[in-house]
Amino acid sequence: MRALSVDVARGRTSVVEAPVPKPGRRQILVEIKVSAVNEMDVQVRSGGWASQVKRFRRAGPVLTGFEFVGVARSDGARIRSGQRIIGYSHVLSGPRTHAEFACLDERDLQVIPDDLPDEDAAALVVMGLTAIEVLERIRRLEPGERCLVIGAAGGVGAYAVQLAASQGGQVTAIASAANAGWVRAQGAGEVRAYEGEDRYRPEDRFDLVIDAPGKSSFAQAGPYLAPGGTYVTTNPTADMGGFVRAALSDKRAGWLMMLRTDPAKLSRLVELWREGAVRPAIDSVYDLSDADAAFDRFAARGKQGRVLLKI
Ligand SMILES: NC(=O)c1ccc[n+]([C@@H]2O[C@H](COP(=O)([O-])OP(=O)(O)OC[C@H]3O[C@@H](n4cnc5c(N)ncnc54)[C@H](OP(=O)(O)O)[C@@H]3O)[C@@H](O)[C@H]2O)c1
Repeated sequence: MRALSVDVARGRTSVVEAPVPKPGRRQILVEIKVSAVNEMDVQVRSGGWASQVKRFRRAGPVLTGFEFVGVARSDGARIRSGQRIIGYSHVLSGPRTHAEFACLDERDLQVIPDDLPDEDAAALVVMGLTAIEVLERIRRLEPGERCLVIGAAGGVGAYAVQLAASQGGQVTAIASAANAGWVRAQGAGEVRAYEGEDRYRPEDRFDLVIDAPGKSSFAQAGPYLAPGGTYVTTNPTADMGGFVRAALSDKRAGWLMMLRTDPAKLSRLVELWREGAVRPAIDSVYDLSDADAAFDRFAARGKQGRVLLKI
């Protein structure tokens, strides 16, 4: 099979030939059609995640990719060969998916309807699930409640804006000035440009603040949260002090750590797609042989949604 390999010393990728993996117990052999690019992939290419990379190397040359759409090529207890599926491999320990085939735990997969196109499905998987985790498990909005989404044009941010708006929330988005129109089209009522403008205004009282780039803290957001309001960052381990502060206040910090999924969550994602509450946000699509350009695009500023790799 064709598989993406990473030369960490050079910080480059290349497509290599590798044996097709054999499914183990409870695994399904999946022919990957489209996979997405994530921050972790870009960091792996530049030498990050050394202990995880060591583990991935034991399984073969593929070190990147963990979310995808594809076709099952073996039978499981629930999934049958030939069915179209989406999946999300365990972030830290699951097999990587930037290759023609991968063997995935059946619990990380779900069958999708025929009318959900490959690229749309691949674009929705992890960041759509993340938005659902925030807005359905951590803090669902009541109609009229106020939500701030920081980093609203990225993967997490775009789906968070869409879902918050679909719950009837009043969404304020922070994004680059150039992406303001696009972010409004995702459902934001107000957009603040992050260049030169204050993130918060003295009169702000948000019921929910979602920090997608994960570079702020509960301490910074706290004064602008309404009583009972919740702050959620994608990088909670960098703000452990925030959880202590929140425990001592009338405001909350929500713990967000999406390391794997399950069939029910994947079904919920498809359901919300069907309702139009989340809509695929695709910045760009690259061929596997052009993976370096895809990784560079992911790392560049100004994206609108997800960067995909066609396998
Ligand atoms: N904890 C979890 O369970 C979990 C789940 C999913 C994702 N994550 C993490 O969440 C992060 C975001 O993922 P993603 O795929 O959404 O990334 P992404 O697509 O690159 O989006 C990041 C967005 O943040 C914006 N941004 C960057 N710096 C900013 C700043 N200082 N102020 C305002 N906006 C800023 C970027 O805008 P520009 O392009 O204009 O700079 C971009 O739109 C990643 O670190 C990912 O690993 C964590």
